[in-house]
Amino acid sequence: MRICAIETSCDETAVAIIEDGRKVLSNIVSSQIDTHAAFGGVIPEVASRIHIENISIVLEEAISTANLSMEQIDAFAITQGPGLVGSLHVGIIAAKTLAWYYDKPLIPIHHITGHIYANQFVDDLQYPLLALVVSGGHTELVLLKEEYNFEILGSTQDDAIGEAYDKVARVMGLSYPGGPQIDLLAKQGKPNYKLPKVKTQNPLDFSFSGLKSAVLQLIQKNRDNLNHADLAYAFQEAVLNEVIEKTKIALNQYSVKHFVLAGGVAANSRLRERVNALKQDYPKLKITIPPMWCCTDNAAMIGAVAYVAYNHGVRGDLSISANPGLDYA
Ligand code: KG4
Ligand code: ZN
Repeated sequence: MRICAIETSCDETAVAIIEDGRKVLSNIVSSQIDTHAAFGGVIPEVASRIHIENISIVLEEAISTANLSMEQIDAFAITQGPGLVGSLHVGIIAAKTLAWYYDKPLIPIHHITGHIYANQFVDDLQYPLLALVVSGGHTELVLLKEEYNFEILGSTQDDAIGEAYDKVARVMGLSYPGGPQIDLLAKQGKPNYKLPKVKTQNPLDFSFSGLKSAVLQLIQKNRDNLNHADLAYAFQEAVLNEVIEKTKIALNQYSVKHFVLAGGVAANSRLRERVNALKQDYPKLKITIPPMWCCTDNAAMIGAVAYVAYNHGVRGDLSISANPGLDYA
């Protein structure tokens, strides 16, 4: 089954053609990062305008790279939410039009389920499965007792982890998106600054805004002799300690067969090291880290989960609309 998947939830216009949920026939991502970097972050109105300019071009490129014609596509998958409403709408209109014109099924997808199922490109998923979702908009521990069944065990009470990376990078004078830059800078840093430990009521929830304020205070205090690499190191260790600690609590509480990392921050080199190190504490646990090419937003992951969703009977009709606050299926 060949699925044409479209993803426009934030600042990437992306289309992929995926066969049977695993074989990537094409995966085209047109990033708007350069445009948004000039503003220091994503401007929603600008993002939706660029999606409108790019969507047909990206679609054509995905079809031609896969060496197919639109008639050879069996279904159209689309990110319905969460995300920026104007950006989501552009992809949804495109997918609805294609599904109607070619008379093929439409599969509405929750963006985060795509990040989780991106791991399917490198491993068979086993259930029960625990996913640590770390992206620009989400920080969650998600339990899948069985295939395509999602239960949120804990989530952020304020900022998402990627958002915290980007905000701290911004106050350090680094350009958008700051996550990859802090990742690089922290490699040269030493443990010279101390940041407070985060407290949350539910032990599986996350909170990053206190850390962000502590970084701001630290910058103000050390204005004249601030060591950027040491600050990046301190911030990154504090953030990653938090997510690894919460992951361990969940792993101890729920007996799962498989643990996967998911979302844009899964590209972080130190987090990948820390997750690999979990193998020592949980030798029987299967652990999967998504390959770098499918960590940040793309449509291949939407095509991967859409195949699973389709087999679970998920269908959309032409009345579906963008849902910025969409819940898991
Ligand atoms: O999943 P994603 O592409 O978009 C959302 O669904 O939100 O995640 C984007 C986020 C951004 O905040 C970006 O700074 C962060 O992922 N990110 C990183 C790294 N690469 C991307 N954060 C830390 N280290 C990285 N290497
Ligand atoms: Zn994402």
